[in-house]
Order: sequence, then C-alpha cells, then structure tokens
Amino acid sequence: MPRTIALMNQKGGVGKTTTAVNLAAGVSALGKRTLLIDLDPQAHATLHLGVEPAERGSVYDLLLDTSLKLGDVRVNARENLDVLPAETDLAGLENELSAASDRTRRLSNALDQHAAALPAGEKPYDFVFIDCPPSLGVLTLNGLSSVREVFIPMQAQFLALQGVSKLMETVKLVRATINPRLFVTGVIICAFDASTTHSKEVVADLDAFFEQSRGSSEPWANARVYRPAVRRNVKLAEAPSFGKTIIEYAPWCPGGLDYKQLAQTLVSEWDLLQGVKPEVAKPTTKTAAKTTSKPAAAPPAAPPAAPPAGQPTGQPVVTVIAPAEARPTEPA
Ligand SMILES: Nc1ncnc2c1ncn2[C@@H]1O[C@H](COP(=O)(O)OP(=O)(O)OP(=O)(O)O)[C@@H](O)[C@H]1O
Ligand SMILES: [Mg+2]
Repeated sequence: MPRTIALMNQKGGVGKTTTAVNLAAGVSALGKRTLLIDLDPQAHATLHLGVEPAERGSVYDLLLDTSLKLGDVRVNARENLDVLPAETDLAGLENELSAASDRTRRLSNALDQHAAALPAGEKPYDFVFIDCPPSLGVLTLNGLSSVREVFIPMQAQFLALQGVSKLMETVKLVRATINPRLFVTGVIICAFDASTTHSKEVVADLDAFFEQSRGSSEPWANARVYRPAVRRNVKLAEAPSFGKTIIEYAPWCPGGLDYKQLAQTLVSEWDLLQGVKPEVAKPTTKTAAKTTSKPAAAPPAAPPAAPPAGQPTGQPVVTVIAPAEARPTEPA
C-alpha cells in the first residue's frame, strides 16, 4: 500500500502545487517510487514538471472513460516519478460526470485497478501525491476518496487561519460520506517569512489548535504543523517556468533545502511504519509515540527536527486563531 497524500486547500495560491511537485520530486529522489496526480484544470503541476499529456490522454480521459487504465495516461517524468497529467478540459468534468453514480470514485477505482493488476515487472508505488484544485468539486472529491492523508499547504497569515476550520469540517464530511479512512496529517507552511512576529504567531496558534485536538475522534486528532516551514524564496516561483523541480533548479536555496528536509521526514515516517530502518526514524516525542502506536488508524508523525534559526519554535505566543465558536472541535 502506498502512502497516499492529497494536497488540499480551497484557498488559491497557497502553495499546493509547489508543495506537491517538490515533495514528489524529493521522495522520488530518495528512491521511492512515486506517482503525482494533477487534478487541477490549471495543470500547474504538469507544467511545473515540463511534461505533456500522453497520446491517449490525461487524467481527464482516465476519469471520463472507465475503459482506460492508469498505465494508458501516466507519463514518466523523472527517475522514480510518474505523473498523471492534467489539461484544461478537466474543468468540464463536473458536468460530464454529473449523472454518474461513481463520479467521486473514478480515480480511486483506477488506482485500485492498477495496484491489483500491476504490469509485469512493475513495482507498486511507495508514494502517491494528489495536487487538488482550489475548490471543492468532483475533482477534489475524487482526490479525497483516493487517499488516506490530507496535507494542508497554507501561508502563515491570519485570514488563511480562518479557513482552516472550514477545511477540517470538509475533511470530516468527506470521511463521513465517502472515505472513512481519511485523516488530516498536517499543515505545511509555505512562503514563510521568519522576520515577522505575525507569521510565528499564526504557526503557534495552529500548534495550539492541534495540541487541543489530541485524543479526540476528529480526523485531525494526530495532525501537526510540519517543520521546517518552507521559507519564502523566489527560486521556488522561478523553477516552474523552466519546467524544473527545485531539486533540479536550485537545490541549495532555502526553499529547496526546506522541501528536501520535509521529503526526508515523509520518507522516514513511512519507513518507520513499514519497519524499515527504525533506528533512523525513531520517534522521540509524545505525539510520535502516540501516533505510531496506531499505524492502521492514523498517519504517522515523525520526530520534529529542531527548527532552523528563524523558524517557528512550536511555542504558542498569542492566540489569533478563529474564534472559539468557529473552531472545528466545537459543536456547530
Ligand atoms: N515558498 C515560496 N516562496 C516563494 N514563492 C512561492 C513559494 N511557494 C509557492 N510560491 C509561489 O506562489 C504562487 C502560488 O503557489 P502554488 O501555485 O503552489 O499555489 P496553489 O495553492 O497550488 O495555487 P492554486 O490554488 O491556484 O492551485 C506560485 O507562483 C508559486 O511559485
Ligand atoms: Mg495549484
């Protein structure tokens, strides 16, 4: 079973695609066989990797035509990294599938079929990342029905924080109706500006919010804010115009190092659950111990590394998160 992760945030421009592409590139560079699925009609992840849809089509065709197989439309982008590319036609899928009773499960069915009948000699994927569009429609629902984990890329700003409760409620609803195995694993802070107190306060508020949820039955009970926060770095914005990942374009820039470290964390967490190299990925925190004791029920939590200089420390500073009545742990 691969580690399946949807990068989801209904807010636009928060770093979903940048995170999906560079984490997929990061874990594949660490030797993990990886599939990146572009579910956004903007096709930004596809462009970012500089790939074109296959002759037989894109993820649009795969979702529309159930006779197609994943192998027909995936493209090998890099060593260990395959992509299900998107195209603008994807925008019409909502209408085209409106009468289909399996419209939210088309992608998960295709992934299951592929895993059940792997072509000869092909190894299963270790990681599947799904780049969701900034909306909650049939595309995002297909993404959420195909994964176990949701990562929320967001920027450390007060208004972004306000949307977190809504996102959590969305995941809860999808878990109740479509995918009972869905969990929120964490938040990835994108374009982090360590020089502002405000950014650090927002991160501290998120930390406090997740800490309060420990032990609850909510799908975010084991979630956390991943470290490091990805620093604001123009190289990350430049890389897509060259069709390159940050590893290829500027691996030693601050944002590149942050994604590299996050990719290592994801791999360590997964190896820990798979029983690989436990001495490398030994959990050291209460959170990690609690989470890894129930691997079948919740996504893993790795030992948080000491934050680099200027990174959020995880110590709550001041409460700026949504008012109590809007928090997802409170009754509606
Ligand atoms: N750490 C960063 N530093 C600087 N720029 C960044 C960083 N992360 C993302 N960006 C830039 O911010 C913009 C939005 O990022 P991205 O496309 O990843 O967001 P998104 O959430 O996928 O957007 P959409 O909702 O439109 O799909 C892009 O131009 C991207 O290059
Ligand atoms: Mg995007």
